[in-house]
Amino acid sequence: MQKKTVLVTGGAGFIGSHVSVELINAGYDLVVADDLSNCDMTNFEGLKQITGRDDIPFHQMTFCDEAATEKLFSENKIDAVIHFAAFKAVGESCAEPLKYYGNNLKSLINVLESARRHGCRNILFSSSCTVYGEPEKTPVTEQTPRQPATSPYGNTKQISEDILRDSVKAYGNIRGIALRYFNPIGAHPTALMGELPRGVPNNLVPYITQTAIGKRECLSVFGNDYPTPDGTNLRDYIDIVDLAKAHVCAVRRMIDDKMEADYEIFNVGTGKPASVLDLVNAFEKVSGEKLNWKFAPRRAGDVIAIWADPSLANEKLGWKAGRTIEDSLLAAWNWEKKLAR
Ligand code: WQD
Repeated sequence: MQKKTVLVTGGAGFIGSHVSVELINAGYDLVVADDLSNCDMTNFEGLKQITGRDDIPFHQMTFCDEAATEKLFSENKIDAVIHFAAFKAVGESCAEPLKYYGNNLKSLINVLESARRHGCRNILFSSSCTVYGEPEKTPVTEQTPRQPATSPYGNTKQISEDILRDSVKAYGNIRGIALRYFNPIGAHPTALMGELPRGVPNNLVPYITQTAIGKRECLSVFGNDYPTPDGTNLRDYIDIVDLAKAHVCAVRRMIDDKMEADYEIFNVGTGKPASVLDLVNAFEKVSGEKLNWKFAPRRAGDVIAIWADPSLANEKLGWKAGRTIEDSLLAAWNWEKKLAR
């Protein structure tokens, strides 16, 4: 039977490259495209080594370019799109809102327009728990009301979900799934792919590993006076490979016509909250390294606590996170040590 082809936009990035490995392992063909604005080809090279495939088409392009997007769809028979291509730095989005609204919304609209024109019905959108803002109740389900976004980045995720939802409803020739990720952490067990933050990392885990390897002086724990058991924020840290496997389940659900509605949303998390100090302690345990850290003032925009109720994804996608925080931190540490060689 003819293999199905998945277009992975932003596919050279941290999440896109790990998803690409799992898609190939699941028997899909790929077209990978990335503008390399926030990563280099390290993870794409890792993807080729891990899968043993050096025939994966790669296109360096931005989906803000309507003509380039149209050309890609006209030259490839695409059965499903996973749309990762977006800017994603919360802080930067506050300083550069037009850059974020322009890039993140224009690229999605171009992808949807070309997909419709070329008979590609299946759109998987990379959304984020950030759409929930500061939830009144935790764990959050897909029915938990979205709060007003706390950053232009988060607003682009909310607006993008609405664009997909309204397009599915209006046109009838596309259907969509939005996956709301919680906090992706870790790296590929082979240490051939991982997180490659540019400059000073915003996110916790790359800052931890860069501190441990000596690239950063000291980890600042932003706030220890939150109304949580140990005073630090609670999050739902999900292993990057578990997250990647959820995408394969969602693509399969679309391509195999198993959807129960033309637009579906799933929380992709572990359902297990962990604090910043839980991660610091777990890292020291798995790495054997003593981490240099200190408490620092709260960071603007941080929500106190959020974690997923993943039961809908568990049931409908037949997917469940299996890796522990320790597994993820060890993989992230091995990746950091590999980068330092
Ligand atoms: C986690 C916790 C920080 C760094 C963001 C985006 C979200 C998604 C994931 C894109 C918080 C604390 C962090 C540090 C710290 N990204 N921290 N010291 O903010 O939960 O989510 O990344 O989709 O949309 O909002 O992740 O890793 O930045 O922070 O104490 O040096 O770690 O205060 O409590 P966050 P994070």
